[in-house]
Amino acid sequence: MENKRKICIMGMGYIGLPTAALLANRGYQVHGVDVSQYAIDTINRGEIHIVEPELDTFVRSSVQSGSLTANIDPAESDIFMIAVSTPFHSDRLNEVTKSPIPNVDYIVDATKKIAPYVKSGNLILLESTSPVGTTDMMADTLKEEGININNVFIAHSPERVLPGHIMRELIENDRVVGGINNESTKEAADFYRTFVNGEVLETNAKTAEMAKLTENSFRDVNIAFANELSILCDDMDIDVRELISLANRHPRVNVLNPGCGVGGHCISVDPWFIVDSANGKAKMIEQARRTNDYKSDWVVEKIKNTALKFEKNNGSKPTIACMGLAFKPDIDDLRESPALYISESLSKLFDVVVVEPNISTYDSLQLVSYEQGLQADICVYLVTHSQFSKLKLKDGDLDFCGLKGN
Ligand SMILES: NC(=O)c1ccc[n+]([C@@H]2O[C@H](COP(=O)([O-])OP(=O)(O)OC[C@H]3O[C@@H](n4cnc5c(N)ncnc54)[C@H](O)[C@@H]3O)[C@@H](O)[C@H]2O)c1
Repeated sequence: MENKRKICIMGMGYIGLPTAALLANRGYQVHGVDVSQYAIDTINRGEIHIVEPELDTFVRSSVQSGSLTANIDPAESDIFMIAVSTPFHSDRLNEVTKSPIPNVDYIVDATKKIAPYVKSGNLILLESTSPVGTTDMMADTLKEEGININNVFIAHSPERVLPGHIMRELIENDRVVGGINNESTKEAADFYRTFVNGEVLETNAKTAEMAKLTENSFRDVNIAFANELSILCDDMDIDVRELISLANRHPRVNVLNPGCGVGGHCISVDPWFIVDSANGKAKMIEQARRTNDYKSDWVVEKIKNTALKFEKNNGSKPTIACMGLAFKPDIDDLRESPALYISESLSKLFDVVVVEPNISTYDSLQLVSYEQGLQADICVYLVTHSQFSKLKLKDGDLDFCGLKGN
């Protein structure tokens, strides 16, 4: 029988499960681990508990062939990969910058769980987006658990796939790989070269960690610039989207699109990882985060002012329809969504309905069809879902997402 290389993947979420299913279809014997029994049971039936195109086919075929199994506990392997979440601590802020503090507890927990199974010669990979120094911290944790880290390879390779295109991008994207020493970098890069068609770029662990945070901070800063322009243009009665499209005709200018804020669990989160460790020195990155968060409050104020005018002219408060709730077009993901924040803020003051074609219910908000939504006195467009593209703005409606597509 073929002697397959074994890989144990910690975390069966949006990153871990697609990676597990891909590797199981590429000749690896994959052991997927999660703390959620529901996730484990679903995967072992050959089904999926997250939404991602093509993932169901990959999972079904690898479970049926026996090359992917899931369990609550890790198992002995040649390679271990950690792909657990890296959120914020919910109960405290950085004392210097008053900014969110990254929570790496899930990484520590997963590292401790694999320790009893780690053997000499194993490769241990961290894929979670992590503050600089986390891979070294992972090595220290393994040492504390009795592992001789001179006999194993430890490296970080940040994931940069786009949800909705994960199965393709896992293979096609270039990959940054950085080990805690040169041998680890080499061993990890050789592993990624077995399934990545993009270029595998070798560096050290800290640079690899910072590369991922830099990518998302770059986009956050650029969007903050666009959002700031949108606020200035509003005062000057200039159409910001026309302005940006003209400025972008310069061969070396590329301003991104303004919106009602920045959401999602990456761009609106990862820059804080830099701010947290920078002792007040990451001024531009911090200001960009705050500008993008402020844009959502600015949008709420604009809507309140429009509603006040309506009330003055009509003698009653308007009904408001928020068009879109997700953090970006054509998905159902509400994580850190500015549209959700805006809708919830408005619903404390007005009679608000929400049109979100990708979601059927949401506890604290009244979701309606867009035929019903269009009956509201004021429609505020927050997300450019493709279902909205044919809708026409009526007098008094507000467009914060560039529905006109210019
Ligand atoms: N989703 C993306 O598009 C994306 C893109 C690039 C990078 N990332 C990064 O990848 C990492 C994982 O993100 P995700 O979207 O897959 O998160 P996720 O929340 O979808 O999945 C994480 C999984 O890990 C499990 N888990 C938590 N602690 C565990 C433990 N100790 N042992 C085993 N399993 C455990 C959770 O139950 C969950 O199923 C994060 O650092 C994220 O920032 C995500």
